[in-house]
Amino acid sequence: MKKPLQITVNGEIRQFFAEPYCSLLDALRDELLLTGTKKGCDEGDCGACTVLLNGQAVTSCLVLAHSAHDSQVTTVEGLADHQKLHPVQQAFVDHGGLQCGFCTPGLIMSAVGLLQENPNPTEEEVRFAIGGNLCRCTGYNKVVEAILAAAQAMQNKLKA
Ligand code: FES
Ligand code: FES
Repeated sequence: MKKPLQITVNGEIRQFFAEPYCSLLDALRDELLLTGTKKGCDEGDCGACTVLLNGQAVTSCLVLAHSAHDSQVTTVEGLADHQKLHPVQQAFVDHGGLQCGFCTPGLIMSAVGLLQENPNPTEEEVRFAIGGNLCRCTGYNKVVEAILAAAQAMQNKLKA
């Protein structure tokens, strides 16, 4: 039987009902209609479902929605500032960090989570942070290039 819960998603308090076994991924996509977060493997292996839960990147298919009760969740829909893309999103566009795009929301959320914790990562740290995000198209180099460029752009903005 569905039970009530409350999660702050992209800064907005959302109250809804979900089955006790419902994953955070399914709650976001099916209850809140936030389909930017992708469902790939549904078992923690591909990273397509990555969101920030209280600031930490998590695979939302492995989190029960009810365990996120009273938490803060950020999805890819919550990154842009009105019409202006988040620097990580912009860098993916500028550096060709995507092809089919299925993995992209998850990769971007992993990158945003990394840059919140470590604003100036090395290439190795970037590769480690996205190690759980599978991409069949890009070969990863342009993704890494994009994340390093985003880090630089965010640093420059802070200094400006
Ligand atoms: S859908 Fe969650 S890790 Fe693949
Ligand atoms: S861009 Fe196609 S899976 Fe990554």
